[in-house]
Amino acid sequence: MAWHCVFREEWVQTTCDATSYFAGMDASQCQDLADVLPYLACGEISAVYAFSGRLQDGVTAETHTLLAHIAADERRHAELILSLQKELPPPRQEIAPSRLAMFFQRLEAGHPAEHLARVSALDRAVCRLLQPLLKKGGAISRAPQLHHDLCALRRDEARHVRLTRRMASDMGCSNERQLLLNATIQQRLVTLMSPVADALRRMGSV
Ligand SMILES: [Fe+2]
Ligand SMILES: [Fe+2]
Repeated sequence: MAWHCVFREEWVQTTCDATSYFAGMDASQCQDLADVLPYLACGEISAVYAFSGRLQDGVTAETHTLLAHIAADERRHAELILSLQKELPPPRQEIAPSRLAMFFQRLEAGHPAEHLARVSALDRAVCRLLQPLLKKGGAISRAPQLHHDLCALRRDEARHVRLTRRMASDMGCSNERQLLLNATIQQRLVTLMSPVADALRRMGSV
């Protein structure tokens, strides 16, 4: 279930110029970024699947349109992350495909309200993960184009959180359920990314 491998060739259409894109970051900072990106890539690709696939079944035309817009954002995010990966060294550690598969499979739900609420919780967790990494003075902020692009991605995710949360609520997901999912999925993401916890800490320190 290594989506980033399966779709890599198809999706890497955009390329970034490594010399200017990562200018300002040293080799160890680039390696930290390279270690973290596979997780983000898998998240984005799984989001494309979610928003362009099963989530679109049995929803209103208006919701269908909104989901298609979000899927387009996620596809753009996936392309960005994969193009960054192409210019960076390989990650020091491969992610165990079984751990990833289990994480993303557990996001799926039979009812669209629950599925949307889980996806909303994951996007919220990703926003929180990115927040310290994008602080001024951190490694990423030293590379202006990279910082700009990842800030735009985070803004998209924050918008997705608002939209999916509202859609889930309209379909019957209670506020209590959403809050529980937010906390649970946040914790699960932290656990999933524990192999790169040190890289995240270094990137988040200013
Ligand atoms: Fe995304
Ligand atoms: Fe998203």
